[in-house]
Formats: sequence, C-alpha cells, structure tokens
Amino acid sequence: MKPRAPEHIAAITPYPPGKPIEELERELGISGSIKLASNENPLGPSPKALKAIGSAMLKLNRYPDGSGFYLRRKLSQKYGYPFDGLLLGNGSNEIIELVIRAFLTPGDEVIMPLPSFLLYNLVARWMGGTPVPVALKGMDIDLEGMAQAVTPRTKVIFLTNPNNPTGAVISKADFEKFLGVVPAETIIVMDEAYIEFNRDPATPVGADYIGKDGPAVIVLKTFSKAYGLAGLRIGYGIMDPSIAAYLNRVRQPFNTSSIAQAAALAALDDDEFLSQTQQITWSGLDYLYGEMAKMGLPYFSSQANFFLIEMPCEAGLIFEQMMRRGVIIRSMKSYGMDRFIRVNAGLPEENERFVRTLGEVLAGLRG
Ligand SMILES: Cc1ncc(COP(=O)(O)O)c(C=O)c1O
Repeated sequence: MKPRAPEHIAAITPYPPGKPIEELERELGISGSIKLASNENPLGPSPKALKAIGSAMLKLNRYPDGSGFYLRRKLSQKYGYPFDGLLLGNGSNEIIELVIRAFLTPGDEVIMPLPSFLLYNLVARWMGGTPVPVALKGMDIDLEGMAQAVTPRTKVIFLTNPNNPTGAVISKADFEKFLGVVPAETIIVMDEAYIEFNRDPATPVGADYIGKDGPAVIVLKTFSKAYGLAGLRIGYGIMDPSIAAYLNRVRQPFNTSSIAQAAALAALDDDEFLSQTQQITWSGLDYLYGEMAKMGLPYFSSQANFFLIEMPCEAGLIFEQMMRRGVIIRSMKSYGMDRFIRVNAGLPEENERFVRTLGEVLAGLRG
C-alpha cells in the first residue's frame, strides 16, 4: 500500500507553478516574450550585488555563515533594527513558514485578508492550522472585520502592506486602532514585500511598532522586488529578539546561501539602483494608468509595483490571448477575481507593448 499523508496535507491544492518562459515560447512557437506577471524588477539585479556575487563565488566550497552576521549587522546599522531581532530567510516566504511553525498548534487559527498572498493560507494548513480569510472591503484590507474575526484560538494575523494583489495600503490611524483592540498575545505579521514602492505618506512603518505594548509585530522584508534578487531567495524578518529566539529554534542552520547574503549586503549599498527602480516603477505605473483611462478600462491605483485592471470579460481569456502574443500577465481567477488581471510595471518599451497588445486583444474580442 502506498503511504498516505495525513488528511490536512492530502487536502491541500499545491501552489500552481508557472512554466519556464522558454518552454512556453517553444510550445507556442514564439520568441521575445515579456513577463509582467510576477512583480519582478524589470531593471535586472543590482549591479553592486552582481559584483559581490563574483567575489563570493570563490568561497563556494565553504558553508555560509548560518547566522547571517554581516547582513544583519548592516541592516541593524542602516535602519536601527534590533540586531538580535533580525532573522534571514530563504526569501521572506521562509519567515512566514518559520512564524507558523514556531507558534501554531493544530487547530489554531490564522487570520488573513482575502484576497492576499496565497502562501499565508497554504502555510497555515501545512501545520494543521485553520485559515480564517477575511474579505476585503472594496479594495482595502478590512481591519475592523479582521479584529472581529479574532477568537481565543487566533495565533497569527497576516497583514500585507501594500497588499498583493490590490496594491492598497493600510493607514497609520487604522493600524494603530487595530493594535489597540487585538489581544496582546496575538502575533501580527506585517508583510512589507512591496513597501519600497509606496508613495502614500499616511501608511505606517511596521518596524516602528516592534517591542511596544500590545500584540507582537513581526515585519517581513524582501530583496526579491526592489533590489532585483528574486532568483537568489533572500528576505528577512524584524521582530522582538524574544520572538526571533523561537524562530531560530525551527530554522535550518544554513537556510540562506553565501551568495545570497553577499548579494543582499551589496544591494543595500546600491542606493542608486533602488532609486532607479522606484523611478521606473512609478513612471511606468503612471503611464499605464493614463493608458487604461484612455481605453476606458477600470483600474485601481496601487502603492506596489503592480496594479489591477478590470476586463470586460473573463480574465482567463485575456491572459491566454496576451500570452499567445508574447505578453505574460496574471489572471486573478485563482484569487477569486474573475474579471481582473494584474500587471507589474516593466521597462517603458514593455509597458508600451502591453498597452498595444491589450488593445489588439480587446479589439479582436469585440470582433
Ligand atoms: C505579499 C508578498 N509577500 C512575500 C512575497 C515573497 O517574497 P520572497 O521572494 O521574499 O519570498 C511575495 C512575492 O510575490 C508577495 O507578493
């Protein structure tokens, strides 16, 4: 008899992996595709990071520094984060897992916005937890609704600021009100994967709330987006040192590679690259908003590097037709938003190609 996983594992639908772009092109008989589907940095990796990778490669025979000492020291010096409250992860994704693994017992509840990043729900279920999704209010995270969903079994609440897929941000006033009503033994994970793209001054800085009275706040940051290092898998969490001590108990000793640590360390010094990334993203989004308005397509302004556009038909249809023309975007069907596509800002020529191709696809559908 084949081994059978426990029911809470067998019931999970695996995270849908995308096909490699080269494979897709081969199947469709096309070339020169562009990808605006995964909120990646269109400029490539930070040049300083690339240089650091070159030097770090010479030491690949050695294990990495399992504590991430230099990167954590740099983060602590640059931003004033508590050194002992910093934890590196194989992408910020891994920190999500560590939080759940360290704190959840089967049957505990994990509250998250719906829709938001799919991984919160998945990871909660890995550990036998119960995901409690709370629907957005319009395009905004419903903090009042989330506070009302708290029960004695609630262990962790995920907030995504800016949210994926809407790009909406939480206001400082609403966040502080929320912290005032949520029980102090709850953990609030503030996922700031896209915070470098935010242009709204009214949103809170998650790290300002660490170590304060009330619920414990853990902030997640990543090098995957604004620093262009998604392929290396490196991110970090900032938290009270007492919480980091628990997460360290369930962390693999060498969870981030030496190359990733070296690249991230150098990328933190690349202010010019960060600023170029922000500029190209902001001007790209503003251009795309203008074009969507001209085409009469409803869209939602975002504080991240992507935004949602409402289609006059099923988003899956648009996704398919755009892909055949070499423009890869995301259909929001799996997020329960059947008519929405999500597109990230690319290089100017990529943005123009997206607009042109969308125009052609919509004209074709209208017949
Ligand atoms: C909200 C959110 N958090 C975290 C991540 C993952 O980041 P990382 O690449 O650091 O694991 C993503 C990636 O798409 C995301 O959208």
